[in-house]
Amino acid sequence: MSKQYYTFFLIIPPGLENLGKMELLQKTSALSDCNLTLIDQQIGGITIETTLEVGFLLNKILKIPTRILLRLEHFKCRDFPRLYKKISKFKWSQYLNQPACEIHASTQTSRLLNTKRIEQTVLEGIEQFFKANTPTKKMLDKKFNQPPQIFLRVVDDLVTLSIDTTGDRLNIRNYRTHIGFAPIRENIAAALVYALNLPPHTHLIDPMCGSGTLLFESATFFTPNSTREFAFELFNLDMTLPTLLSTANDLKDTVLTYTGLDINEHAIETAKHNLKNLKSPRPFQFLRQDLFMEGCLKKADLISVITNPPYGKRITIKENLTSYYQKILDAIFKNYRPIVFGIIIPKSVNYKNLKLRNYLINEVISFQNGGIKVNFLILHKNQTSISNT
Ligand SMILES: C[S@@+](CC[C@H](N)C(=O)[O-])C[C@H]1O[C@@H](n2cnc3c(N)ncnc32)[C@H](O)[C@@H]1O
Repeated sequence: MSKQYYTFFLIIPPGLENLGKMELLQKTSALSDCNLTLIDQQIGGITIETTLEVGFLLNKILKIPTRILLRLEHFKCRDFPRLYKKISKFKWSQYLNQPACEIHASTQTSRLLNTKRIEQTVLEGIEQFFKANTPTKKMLDKKFNQPPQIFLRVVDDLVTLSIDTTGDRLNIRNYRTHIGFAPIRENIAAALVYALNLPPHTHLIDPMCGSGTLLFESATFFTPNSTREFAFELFNLDMTLPTLLSTANDLKDTVLTYTGLDINEHAIETAKHNLKNLKSPRPFQFLRQDLFMEGCLKKADLISVITNPPYGKRITIKENLTSYYQKILDAIFKNYRPIVFGIIIPKSVNYKNLKLRNYLINEVISFQNGGIKVNFLILHKNQTSISNT
């Protein structure tokens, strides 16, 4: 029997779409039975076509997307009576167990203009479906910690109806029970550690680690999200998820040790709490240390650094921001001489004005972190200039 293919939309933080695509292609190539076609990449996401099983499984193996939607229907619609009719005739019992759900509508250049009215019409249509198709006790007994989410996008009178397959956002992993000050979102952290493309046998250091998110995401990038629930698990569809190739994870993790340092004792305690939840087999250490003080960590041979310093918004910085970032770069170059070095710098600091000493810019990734425009600079040691000095 030939397989049926469905359209999925992976929501990805703007600016990180290319990394999201690379992750998708790399991880799905390790699946035993996976047919997947990239349909489109746009700001904020990627559209793919694949089987239901693979589309749902992506929730467990991908670290960069925020959410994965399954397209349910695509139809022309210019008025509310037709919208109501289409929605009430759709077979909701495959995806919902009762009418309670959240509707998110957006509309652009269409006769269906009023998003509130669209959302209300969709809710009424779903209620009508369940009046005509009473849910079974088994369906009513299925409980989840948040209502299912339905997305409706209307562009040029064309309606795209989708359902969320994820539940709580994908960046919510189960290890981060303790939150530090100005933490980075886990999926953004995952994208940045992935972008570093660390050399084998490296020691990874975050000298301003806060609650440790960048290090934790590096250590778990190839570990499936298996300790949480997903919205698709409540769908009433008969399917089995394909098995992962068992060796794929360990082979990709090239880091030998993880070290997190922070000037703030509370941040270090937070990171240590989260480490307990992570149960990582890799060696981790968290220590209180001021980056600008002499006598930092004992130097290992092959060090890489990733860090997300304060931007001067939520954490106040008294000096000029460009001088502050220059001080951070100089301290990291001097203390660790990293082979690969990734640093987030707010866009308000022109990185072209910073002195990079013996380092070359390998890549600049622009995105927003907590509503602030930032660049992630990936620097590589310039081997030629170092051997000449
Ligand atoms: C933006 S936060 C890092 C957040 C972290 N990436 C996370 O997800 O939790 C910046 C961190 O830099 C630390 N910090 C500020 N000045 C420092 C210094 N001189 N040495 C070491 N850490 C410092 C702060 O205590 C704060 O935890």
